[in-house]
Amino acid sequence: MKAVIITDFGAEPKVADLPVPDPGHGELLVRLHAAGLNPFDWKVIDGALRGVVEHAFPLVMGSDGAGVVERVGAGVTEFEPGDTVYGQFMRLPEGQGSYAEYALIPADGKVAHIPASLPFTVAAALPTASAAAYKGIEAASLEAGQVILINGASGGVGQSAIQFAAAKGARVLATATPDLADHLRELGADEIIDFTTAPTAEQVSSLHPQGIDAVLDLITAPGGDIDTLADLLAPGGVLVNSNFAADADALAAREIRAVNLSSSPTQAELEALATLADAGTLRITIDAEVALDDAPAAVAGARASHSRGKTILVP
Ligand SMILES: NC(=O)c1ccc[n+]([C@@H]2O[C@H](COP(=O)([O-])OP(=O)(O)OC[C@H]3O[C@@H](n4cnc5c(N)ncnc54)[C@H](OP(=O)(O)O)[C@@H]3O)[C@@H](O)[C@H]2O)c1
Repeated sequence: MKAVIITDFGAEPKVADLPVPDPGHGELLVRLHAAGLNPFDWKVIDGALRGVVEHAFPLVMGSDGAGVVERVGAGVTEFEPGDTVYGQFMRLPEGQGSYAEYALIPADGKVAHIPASLPFTVAAALPTASAAAYKGIEAASLEAGQVILINGASGGVGQSAIQFAAAKGARVLATATPDLADHLRELGADEIIDFTTAPTAEQVSSLHPQGIDAVLDLITAPGGDIDTLADLLAPGGVLVNSNFAADADALAAREIRAVNLSSSPTQAELEALATLADAGTLRITIDAEVALDDAPAAVAGARASHSRGKTILVP
């Protein structure tokens, strides 16, 4: 089967021919119809989890995927060949990932059925980004009328987060370049902060000098300046960061509740997201559909950012 692999940390992704894996006890073999690209996929190449978990090389890249169950291993009762499913396929110790024509996934916990009318490409966009958005907005504990800044709102997580925050009745400040302003307003953003014209924090503090209630920060990396965003919050405010950059103890001393986001959706959460997407309540913007052969170039493009939504690989 065709798969996009790396042979070591720091290696360039390349397309390779690998044997189709056999499903073991409790596993599904899925013929993938779509794989969602996330920044974490290339962060793995850079060693984000080096020393934390084992990595088996050659390592098939990617986490998110959607497809059709081809075979099931012994002990699987909830799924059968022909079922349409989606979930997170990345298993670094086994060298398994979703940028491939086939991938294995344990049947318990991280995989869910797809509603018949939900396209594979949309399902493959959900597991990492939309789940993180949902958890991020839940962690912010927003009440109607409260104000939230979504920093990094134009990307995959941000576009879902805008919708979840707006559904809570919050006033949503979304960072974006002007070309995306109308689209983000349609998703539920109330104010667009063009982060390319002046620092985001300066713009937000002049619009809301009394302080805002929450920040969902999808940009600041560990060691980055998160204090400038924390300064925007009124006492009792919440700062949620997606890159483990928030020092919860230090921020608690300033009466700010800080949450470092970790999204690993359960089967029930996957089912809920798929239902929302199928109903059109959660709208997913597919920025690009890319053939597996062109995945290495797509990964390089993702590193350079300029994401306008989700990039989906189509085997
Ligand atoms: N902890 C978790 O469980 C979890 C889960 C999902 C994602 N994440 C992390 O969350 C981050 C966002 O993920 P994503 O999937 O949404 O990424 P993405 O699709 O690449 O989107 C990032 C967006 O941020 C914008 N951006 C870049 N610099 C900015 C700045 N200074 N101010 C405001 N916006 C800026 C980019 O716009 P331009 O293209 O115009 O530069 C891009 O649209 C990544 O670091 C990812 O690893 C963590």
